[in-house]
Amino acid sequence: MKKILFAFVLGPALFAACTKKASPAKAKATTYAADISPLMQAKCAPCHLPTKGGRKADFETYEGAKKYGTEMLARVMLNPGDRGFMPFKHDKLPAEEIALLKKWIDEGMLEK
Ligand code: HEC
Repeated sequence: MKKILFAFVLGPALFAACTKKASPAKAKATTYAADISPLMQAKCAPCHLPTKGGRKADFETYEGAKKYGTEMLARVMLNPGDRGFMPFKHDKLPAEEIALLKKWIDEGMLEK
């Protein structure tokens, strides 16, 4: 009887409880630390990185990047040759990187 109880009642209940905890694969939030900082280091250097001699707005820190978030997006959405286009004198960012920046802003510019 005990075996039957386990097989038909407790077993499935336990299974359901365990899978429930593990399953909802919540989409990872976009953060400055994980996503935006590497992008700035790769594409906005050295001009916007004070420690690399950059003298333009500081995107090396979360506070600095956050202050310019929407303006960064506006500028990378322009095209080379447009006034204010960024990254200055470089190729336009690939669509995935522009989308990442937009996602970061849409999610409230999280730090980490
Ligand atoms: C080769 C140097 C260079 C690179 C690389 C560069 N910028 Fe700039 N950035 C500038 C210069 C010069 C200015 C000031 C002229 C202007 O406002 O258009 C500027 C200005 C800006 C401003 C306005 C705030 C300010 O500093 O005056 C934003 C926002 C900006 N850049 C975003 C970016 C982003 C985002 C990237 C990387 C995807 C980037 N830039 C890459 C040179 C650069």
